[in-house]
Amino acid sequence: MINIQKAAIIGCGFVGASIAYALMQKGTFSEIVLLDANEKKAEGEAMDISHGLPFAHAMDIYAGKYEDIRDASVIIITAGANQRPGETRLDLVQKNAGIMKSIIREIKRVKCEGILLIVSNPVDILTYVALKESGFPSSRVIGSGTVLDTARLKYILSEKLKVDSRNVHAFIIGEHGDSELPVWSCANIYGIGLGDFAKMKGYKNFTSEMEEIYHAVRDSAYEIIERKGATYYGIGMAAARIAEAIVRDSHAVVPVSVLLNGEYGLSDLCLSIPAIVGSEGAEQVLEIAFNEDENKKLKKSAEELKAVLHTIQ
Ligand code: NAD
Ligand code: LAC
Repeated sequence: MINIQKAAIIGCGFVGASIAYALMQKGTFSEIVLLDANEKKAEGEAMDISHGLPFAHAMDIYAGKYEDIRDASVIIITAGANQRPGETRLDLVQKNAGIMKSIIREIKRVKCEGILLIVSNPVDILTYVALKESGFPSSRVIGSGTVLDTARLKYILSEKLKVDSRNVHAFIIGEHGDSELPVWSCANIYGIGLGDFAKMKGYKNFTSEMEEIYHAVRDSAYEIIERKGATYYGIGMAAARIAEAIVRDSHAVVPVSVLLNGEYGLSDLCLSIPAIVGSEGAEQVLEIAFNEDENKKLKKSAEELKAVLHTIQ
């Protein structure tokens, strides 16, 4: 039987450890199991994070084996190589697809029943690999997708417009990667259209700023990897947000990577579209009336992902 209060994290490198740390601070779960091919690494992270518990919420966090995660409600997978400076996420595909398949085989062996949350890159491709390899219903296999890119967009917009990022409603869809796109037609600040709000803040022409903001969002990971070698705090919070939507059954709208089944004229691939997420995983993929340009760019992003999928099938 599923223990809704229990999560598992497979891969305890920079990203897995940051997700564990974020979840511990939020008090989302009462039990977190850490797994890594390097068992000592998982043990060390569990010990280190446990030492923060007196300052947070009581819970149990420990290094374990696949047998220990059978009843976890959420299984977060971050195992695999990360990008070197100059590498794209798609460059990681062959190596990480092999790792993903071997992990999913273990998950099936011990008969896990929880939701799989894929974070390893290229996340859209690996979500699809995890889905096919597991044979789980598509609602149960979701990728962190553009939840992080969406947070970056909200942050950068908030800095430009000098407004709390939690009042910014805007999102990124498509690939979590170079072909992603912003949905400007839906962007607003506290319900006020982006253009109108920008005028209130003194911008005469915000359109030219928008292109620059999009590039900054899309290239954020490259900029960070160039400076510090990896990204992990932002994704730590983003993955914790998705896990929280599952465990609290909050029906949150988040742009996760999901299987498309004809929505937007696309099928048989995973990419990010706002979906309703609750205890059943991705409960509903939202079909939003994007404008023509957005639909065109979404299609292009899907084509790029499909081309990569064909190389591993
Ligand atoms: P890292 O090298 O620090 O950690 C990877 C960990 O995976 C290592 O500890 C390694 O021992 C472990 N591992 C490898 N094979 C394994 C296996 N078969 N079973 C269990 N553990 C295994 O890398 P990182 O910086 O933590 O990045 C991890 C992944 O997350 C990368 O693919 C990276 O690109 C991706 N990432 C995704 C996002 C996102 O938004 N989706 C954001 C940042 C990073
Ligand atoms: C990110 C990772 C590298 O930070 O996918 O966007």
